Amino acid sequence: MARIALLGGTGAEGLGLALRFGIAGEDIIIGSRQQQRAEQAAQRLRTMLRDAGAPCRVDAGDNAAAVAAADTVALSLPYEGVEPTLAQLGSALAGKLVLDVVNPLVFDRGMFRILPIAAGSAGELIQQLLPRSPVVCAFKNLSAKQLLDAPQQLRGDVLLCGDHADAKRYVVDLIRRIPVLRAVDAGAIGNAQHLESITALLMNLNRRYKTSTSVEVLSLEQLDSKS
Ligand SMILES: NC(=O)c1ccc[n+]([C@@H]2O[C@H](COP(=O)([O-])OP(=O)(O)OC[C@H]3O[C@@H](n4cnc5c(N)ncnc54)[C@H](OP(=O)(O)O)[C@@H]3O)[C@@H](O)[C@H]2O)c1
Repeated sequence: MARIALLGGTGAEGLGLALRFGIAGEDIIIGSRQQQRAEQAAQRLRTMLRDAGAPCRVDAGDNAAAVAAADTVALSLPYEGVEPTLAQLGSALAGKLVLDVVNPLVFDRGMFRILPIAAGSAGELIQQLLPRSPVVCAFKNLSAKQLLDAPQQLRGDVLLCGDHADAKRYVVDLIRRIPVLRAVDAGAIGNAQHLESITALLMNLNRRYKTSTSVEVLSLEQLDSKS
């Protein structure tokens, strides 16, 4: 069991991940730029977890306090918040596993697009800014709408990537404890740009077909037999 902090845990994606991680048995710390917002979101999460029959420990704090109390820190912030947040908290994150769920998206001329990033992707930028933290990119393609619908089992694949094998093993194990998601290790962090582009495509599909799409990769039966 780990203590997972979610920076930006007051937003839909952070709260949805916190709900699923809490049901999986992890302790949660909701982080925010404002302590009071963190406490309000934590109270909402405790109610959702109690309703789901999973009363795990939930704490709240400003982002700095949340980082200090956690082993694993999820960045569930908009892309524009990444650099200022890491400029402030980068040294406190050294040695902690950082879970990156950020998609650098913009809505432009009627469709979602990926912003050009010199580092290649949000995931690579975050790893460059945090050289002393193992960064794992995951859950980028899983919608908050699905995560927050706790009575509904999630299904499909969580594509993940990163350059640190031990950190990826922890995230793969976490994903396997969320019914009935499958973890698909997509390799090195250089693949983060592809994960982020898939989200843009899914969001354009969601707009077109008025639904909430997710990802499932076929012909990876060897992963099923390992789990
Ligand atoms: N929504 C989805 O379905 C979904 C799915 C997959 C991945 N993602 C990714 O997950 C991330 C969060 O998504 P979201 O929809 O939850 O976003 P959001 O609601 O816009 O933001 C989440 C939280 O981030 C904090 N925040 C906002 N602007 C910030 C800034 N400039 N600097 C620092 N913190 C800031 C806010 O918390 P405080 O004000 O409390 O600090 C906010 O509640 C995004 O990168 C998104 O691409 C989202």
